[in-house]
Amino acid sequence: MELFTERLFLRPWNESDAESLYEYAKDDRVGPIAGWHVHTSVENSLEIIRTVLSVPETYAVCLKEDNRAIGSIGLMIGKQSHINLPDTEGEIGYWIGVPFWGQGLIPEATRELIRHAFEDLKLETLWCGYFDGNEKSKRVQEKCGFTYHHTDKDIHWKLMDDIRTDHITRLTKEEWRVSKMKTVIIHGQSHKGSTYHIARILADKISGDITEFFLPRDFGEFCCGCTQCFVNDEKKCPHYEKLAPITKAIDNADVIILASPVYVYHTTGSMKAFLDHYGWRWMVHRPEEKMFKKQGVCISTAAGGGMKSTNKDMADSFFYWGVAKIYKYGIGVAAIDWNKVSDKKKSSIEKATDSIARGIIKRNGKVKPSFKTKGFFLIMRLLQKKGWNEADVKYWKEKGWTDKKRPWKNR
Ligand SMILES: Cc1cc2nc3c(=O)[nH]c(=O)nc-3n(C[C@H](O)[C@H](O)[C@H](O)COP(=O)(O)O)c2cc1C
Repeated sequence: MELFTERLFLRPWNESDAESLYEYAKDDRVGPIAGWHVHTSVENSLEIIRTVLSVPETYAVCLKEDNRAIGSIGLMIGKQSHINLPDTEGEIGYWIGVPFWGQGLIPEATRELIRHAFEDLKLETLWCGYFDGNEKSKRVQEKCGFTYHHTDKDIHWKLMDDIRTDHITRLTKEEWRVSKMKTVIIHGQSHKGSTYHIARILADKISGDITEFFLPRDFGEFCCGCTQCFVNDEKKCPHYEKLAPITKAIDNADVIILASPVYVYHTTGSMKAFLDHYGWRWMVHRPEEKMFKKQGVCISTAAGGGMKSTNKDMADSFFYWGVAKIYKYGIGVAAIDWNKVSDKKKSSIEKATDSIARGIIKRNGKVKPSFKTKGFFLIMRLLQKKGWNEADVKYWKEKGWTDKKRPWKNR
């Protein structure tokens, strides 16, 4: 097995790595703190390659540029681990040569091994650990999402014949999936009032990676009604390039939050102008395939009323884009400033965002569109089979949607 990251190539150890291994493993700052003796010669390193490192799921960590082994990373599954795990769980161990410390290479390798363990090997839980005082290793584990589980005090470490304290950390598949979630928030205003705070509270509860855009600060154009996007190509829209970073973030996100204060019973003009630019993505034209696996949240706040119509303004776009699961949350905050929102309202916001975040996390990665969305898609499919707009017909045909393929099914 071989694994790749941006900078690294992870591959099985070869006997020809002995010299390189010795160069880094003879340094007493590397082995002892990780629980193994310094290597004493190239022959000793060769012996270690033969007897210890040549096992499945143990990889030489190599820079892509020269394929030289500069460290090692391994996954010990079930009984192979030193903490006696069931077969659905594994333990990760690693080290890297001193000249390569501080470059984030081991976190990079570890993240890929975590992906491999959960996605390819279908493990359920991963464990890691560090001996007391090994702060570098502790930081790697924190960076990769492992959290403290327990401490084994004063254990006899056979390999070194000494007494150590081992701190054990853990990462479950569910925690890993959540930590990888991407949320994009499109704020329908450029200030940080009540609507901003509620959207942000929710995104922080979902956790993972959060990207925010503020309208009109990050996009303030009006659709000029040229219809080029529908009729010809979305790239012909005069604002296509300007909108591209937001489009890209939306396409990469698992969760899209559209948040707008109520302005005269509807979304802000900025939000409306923004959504107008995606008319070509409506199911009647050329919906983006990825939408059918995403979750969307509409958030609106008002002094008194209008949240329903405001959320509908945004939910309509989600629905016609094909977004699989849509949540709506509107609240009359009885204030025009977040600081003036009462504690009672804030506690109800906490409860509502807790519940939405829980639902989103539970469905992440397995969300399916509703019957209503699938039904509407099938009606659009009939329309595209007959065809009235060349660009759309071509798109549906290329996607295979006028045939048997469906955007919510894996190929
Ligand atoms: C132009 C404008 C129109 C508004 N229209 C309404 C409205 O129709 N109904 C309402 O209850 N509040 C209305 N409000 C009040 C805001 O919706 C309310 O204060 C909201 O919570 C502000 O959110 P923010 O703190 O995120 O800006 C309006 C405010 C503005 C500036």
